[in-house]
Amino acid sequence: MRNSVKVFAPATVANVVCGFDVLGFAVNAPGDEVIMRMTGKPGVQLIKITGDEGRLPLDPDKNTVSASVQHYLEHIGRTDVGVEIELHKKMPIGSGLGSSSASTVAGLFAINTLMDNLLSNKELIPFAMKGEELACGYGHADNVAPALMGGFVLIRSYEPLDVISLPFPEDMYAAIVYPEVDVPTKDARQMIRSKILLKNAVTQWGNVAGLVSGLFMKDYDLIGRSMVDVLVEPTRSILIPDFYKMRALALDQGAVGFGISGSGPSVFALTKNEETARVITLSLQNQLKGLNINSLGFVSPVNKMGPVVLD
Ligand code: HSE
Repeated sequence: MRNSVKVFAPATVANVVCGFDVLGFAVNAPGDEVIMRMTGKPGVQLIKITGDEGRLPLDPDKNTVSASVQHYLEHIGRTDVGVEIELHKKMPIGSGLGSSSASTVAGLFAINTLMDNLLSNKELIPFAMKGEELACGYGHADNVAPALMGGFVLIRSYEPLDVISLPFPEDMYAAIVYPEVDVPTKDARQMIRSKILLKNAVTQWGNVAGLVSGLFMKDYDLIGRSMVDVLVEPTRSILIPDFYKMRALALDQGAVGFGISGSGPSVFALTKNEETARVITLSLQNQLKGLNINSLGFVSPVNKMGPVVLD
């Protein structure tokens, strides 16, 4: 049995444009790291957070990593266990890239590794959802499920939880750009209308079914024409500088589809290869530079592994 472990968990792109709260995929980078050590004294301590510019709580009840680890230990009946946690944030907070999810998933994967993999990654999802609830007020699974399972994931149902791994074209890449403006998920959720028109619902579920079919059929054309969101994007895009200009740029340069990553402000494009993803990332970053907005760019295939033990 191990006494300590270092874990990496990946960032994720939730919603994938049309699938608000029900679709997401993981990427290879960025992501967060957690180091966890057994202490011999019952209780979960958060001893260090780096890379957060002092923004995350060190109080173990308020931090999503320690709170979900505590919840896991209670669930498996091991409140006698004591651990200390270091969280190393390697990705921006409030970016729409599943920042809280990557931290929480790294913590849960670490404790589960120390407990000899008592639960499967899929069984860890409900614990990670509790972490999301703490972070943004709602326990959505479209970041934590792909972060834990890797790949492309569908949340078919929340009650009961039914999570499905989807296939995807092997050569598919994501171009991701994070404009350095902060959009907390909590605020970005509050701005969405809770009532929708039936005709918009019809458009949306047609697109969700189209996107899932396109992934199964490895049909880029179908994937692209299904990446349309009439429910959330019209409102949230207001928060993202030059959103529609960036979309036009990405599509002109060969993107399969383009949209907001999670609750934003990051945007992403799916592409048919790495080169196109690189070209699009640079051109979106240039567009933002023209507005005097700094940005970070990431190019990645869909991550197949989920969290991994580094040490
Ligand atoms: N589905 C969530 C939302 C993802 O759009 O609010 C948050 O990253």
